[in-house]
Amino acid sequence: MSAKTSTIAVEGKSIDLPIREGTIGPSVVDIAALYKNSGMFTYDPGFTSTASCESQITYIDGDEGVLLYRGYPIEQLAEHGDFLETCYLLLYGELPTASQKADFDYRVTRHTMVHEQMLRFFQGFRRDAHPMAVMVASVGALSAFYHDSTDISDPQQRMIASMRMIAKMPTLAAMAYKYSVGQPFMYPKNNLDYTANFLHMCFAVPCEEYTSNPVLARALDRIFILHADHEQNASTSTVRLAGSSGANPFACIAAGIACLWGPAHGGANEAALKMLEEIGTPERIPQYIAKAKDKNDPFRLMGFGHRVYKNYDPRAKIMQRTTHEVLNELGIKDDPLLDVAMELERIALHDEYFIEKKLYPNIDFYSGITLKAMGFPTSMFTVLFALARTVGWIAQWKEMIEDPSQKIGRPRQLYTGAPKRDYVPIAQRA
Ligand code: SDX
Repeated sequence: MSAKTSTIAVEGKSIDLPIREGTIGPSVVDIAALYKNSGMFTYDPGFTSTASCESQITYIDGDEGVLLYRGYPIEQLAEHGDFLETCYLLLYGELPTASQKADFDYRVTRHTMVHEQMLRFFQGFRRDAHPMAVMVASVGALSAFYHDSTDISDPQQRMIASMRMIAKMPTLAAMAYKYSVGQPFMYPKNNLDYTANFLHMCFAVPCEEYTSNPVLARALDRIFILHADHEQNASTSTVRLAGSSGANPFACIAAGIACLWGPAHGGANEAALKMLEEIGTPERIPQYIAKAKDKNDPFRLMGFGHRVYKNYDPRAKIMQRTTHEVLNELGIKDDPLLDVAMELERIALHDEYFIEKKLYPNIDFYSGITLKAMGFPTSMFTVLFALARTVGWIAQWKEMIEDPSQKIGRPRQLYTGAPKRDYVPIAQRA
């Protein structure tokens, strides 16, 4: 059977472009030869109809509200596995056996410490620096510690860099939190599992023993699973583009953290909680719904809408259940923010504007309420998102480096600036 092609006519010239089919989901029209054969580029700001790469890691069906990591539904992974199992799956492509899991946990645990000189690095920040600013800088600084041993053409060194990144993010995230509250850094403890270790580094103090609440540790571990990867979102695309030049992987992850920080992306969990606090009571919701609909008002309902999900974000449903589980465990019966969130969701899901534009709550809508209840300040919400998304960034970076067809990412443009013109000496300018 001949390969499928799509024929387009460009200024009267017919051009055949190959169609490539995936395992599931939309096929693609391979336009690599379009410019050579037509002298034209495609134009797709925001890449709403553009596949930037071939990937085998994560699949999203936005209409059906489906999210698969290496083919496994997010609901099953969140229910039955733990975050490091998800990390193994995203990195290696298969669920680990018991011995592979034990070995992976052991290897991650023994990379959790950071170079002692990093402690001095933190002292350079104002004590009220936003923890995301600290994370961008400190993760980028890691490239100064490993640059001479990160030969990204060596598969073993790529895996070591991946393990280091996954292992050290909780330590750096906890350090960013401790620095912001003026408490001493707590070192990782190898007898704790990944998420309990992170909670210990955040909330323990040298003056007394600390044991994390196992229900909260399990809930946070599940939250990390939900945030681990999400195909070619803005921050992952940033990591891929940075990595396509051969840059140090730690520097590429720092670029991903910078992109995630934006309120349209990972910064939405912090912005969503601030929005709920600003709304304050269910009675004030209608005026904010009106602002969201007003074309002249830049206000958006933070935590609503998604580029891909035009149905309920499957992660938001699990997040909502986790929110109730955490609030119940903490004995928080009537959280006013939750009342506002539940009423806002109810109204929005019955409002014609949101129905027509298919705006549903996304993962960031409930995460803020949960993380605040756990004791994290709002400024740490996106840091936790970055902690969890690191494995997705790294897995996608590895896949890009190992893709034989990969080349440096270099988009073109539609130029609408000044035509060619000659220099005018300053004495002759009006
Ligand atoms: C994440 O890509 C990913 O996978 C991201 C993420 C991941 O795991 O990596 O899922 C994580 O970033 C989730 C999204 C978090 N962001 C927010 O919650 C911020 C609020 N949401 C919006 O900024 C917006 O919905 C985006 C950015 C998420 C998606 O924007 P798009 O796809 O570019 O859609 P759009 O801005 O073109 O909006 C389509 C229409 C517009 O109206 P029209 O111009 O067609 O008249 O819907 C409206 C928008 O005005 N709209 C909203 C809205 N989101 C979109 N109106 C009110 N409130 C909103 N939240």
